[in-house]
Amino acid sequence: MYKSVLLMFILLATYSCTESKKDNNTTTETTNIDKKWWKEAIVYQIYPRSFQDTDGDGIGDLKGIINRLDYIKSLGVTAVWLNPIYSSPNDDNGYDVSDYRNIMSDFGTMEDFDKMLSEMHARDIKLVMDIVVNHSSDEHEWFKESRSSRDNPYRDYYHWWPAEKGEPPYRYSLFDAEGNAWKYDEQTDSYYLHYFSQKQPDLNWENPKVRQEVNDILKFWAEKGVDGFRLDAFQFAAKDTTFPKFPDGFEKNFIQYYAMQDGLHKYLKEMNSEVFSNYDVMTVAEGAGRTLEEAHELVDADRNEINMAYAFDAVDIPKADGYDLATFKETFSKWDSAFAKKGWISIFLSNHDQARMVSRYANDVLAYRAPSAKMLNTFILSMRGTPYCYFGDELGMTNNPKLKNIEDYKDIAAINGFKKAKTNNEDLDEYMRNLRFGSRDHGRTPMQWDASENAGFTTGTPWLPLNPNYKSVNVNAEEQNEESVLNHFKKMTALRTNNDVLVYGDYKLIQKEHKQIYAFTRTLDKDEVLILLNFSENEASFALDNLAAYSEIKINNYLELAHTESEITLKPYQAVILGKD
Ligand code: GLC
Repeated sequence: MYKSVLLMFILLATYSCTESKKDNNTTTETTNIDKKWWKEAIVYQIYPRSFQDTDGDGIGDLKGIINRLDYIKSLGVTAVWLNPIYSSPNDDNGYDVSDYRNIMSDFGTMEDFDKMLSEMHARDIKLVMDIVVNHSSDEHEWFKESRSSRDNPYRDYYHWWPAEKGEPPYRYSLFDAEGNAWKYDEQTDSYYLHYFSQKQPDLNWENPKVRQEVNDILKFWAEKGVDGFRLDAFQFAAKDTTFPKFPDGFEKNFIQYYAMQDGLHKYLKEMNSEVFSNYDVMTVAEGAGRTLEEAHELVDADRNEINMAYAFDAVDIPKADGYDLATFKETFSKWDSAFAKKGWISIFLSNHDQARMVSRYANDVLAYRAPSAKMLNTFILSMRGTPYCYFGDELGMTNNPKLKNIEDYKDIAAINGFKKAKTNNEDLDEYMRNLRFGSRDHGRTPMQWDASENAGFTTGTPWLPLNPNYKSVNVNAEEQNEESVLNHFKKMTALRTNNDVLVYGDYKLIQKEHKQIYAFTRTLDKDEVLILLNFSENEASFALDNLAAYSEIKINNYLELAHTESEITLKPYQAVILGKD
């Protein structure tokens, strides 16, 4: 409870976002901002396996996405990023592609795809495709050929090490049960390289034929009219193919050895001149290099490579025993300032490689789930950079308590990680504790549409268990509740869309020492907003001399806001955006 002495006013935050007027003319006339649709985009990421099933096999499909496009439109998002939907044996749920020009049978057909794309475009929703070309599946024709003989024309599409040279220098694999990225293949008495699972052999980007193949694939999709590409794990594509020995223990810091190797910029420039520059597509890379300078080099418009990258610093912060708000503020502020004048960044707190954001960064207990999920969505949608919102986060979906024991998990990273921990005699309780907090499977449980059996996701058996909280946390229930996380999300997307200051405005961190509140301003010409986010489960006060100047409540995740002329008291996880009248 806030102290009543501080309570001079109680303002009802019945602000309707549509009241705020977009004033494009003012901003373009007075400010030199380089407007681009992909900077203004609000991206909604769909994990197709988990979104909507229509044929009862327990796996989401493209028809399901088509059926839900009106819902997606109603969110106020403007683009969809789809995780891979190409043919795949699903060792890593589609990140092991066996045919880049075909649709995975679980998901439907090319006809479904074409319909989905045109229905998206009919609603002014853009589509960003996931391009997985650091590696393919071992069931791709290229690899089948490549492994068949040492003199096969496809041999050099992958990295091979002939066994007569002895054991290849150790390379770390992220998903291998032994942690070894070299796999011996009897057929040609050689090892092949796989940074991810054994069924994900790395492509050899030094081979111009591989690069041409990839450009042709990109053109194929661009010709179909897709609006963007997300380049999966691409910072690892270039390798020193002399395969020098790395220092012992390098795997603890493998990004330093794997990312941004010589050749990477050349490959991106080629893709840009052959494909990206010929279409109105946005491009985003997973991984932003090892330093801010490297991140800049990827996205500097003058270098003609890609538009933006996403860095992992922020998603690496939360741990099972908590995290420090100061580090969180510092991380986002550092990235913002590095790109304040030039370049552009991505803003996100979750995706298919993370557990649910409300369970990691905030508080998923009943009393705080809704306010804290709204607070995080307020954050993502008020930062500078293109926001990526992960499906289900608009509802405040949480980690799934049904994922208890290792047998409950489906993700290859979780399963092989467990095997490795066992072999190495690591503390398995600790391993499971971390998995229950941070496993990718938490972010992949099915979308919660309604309170019917299996949450309206499937009539069959869902491929991962539904979170039992779907009875109350679901689209249907939240659409009917004016104060739901979902309706707050929609207010936020409308607010961002109608206020250039939230897209292009300068970001400034204020009172950075505050232990509970993340406070910052966004400023564009005369327009200025103040964003206050209480990241704690306790009330928190925030004093500011010129508080009275911010007299308009643009958004509030509670019905009330307690303040005096110089101090605001925020309730647990309260989030407000205040504007100057
Ligand atoms: C990226 C994807 C992840 C996948 C990996 C291998 O990190 O986001 O889901 O497992 O690449 O393709």
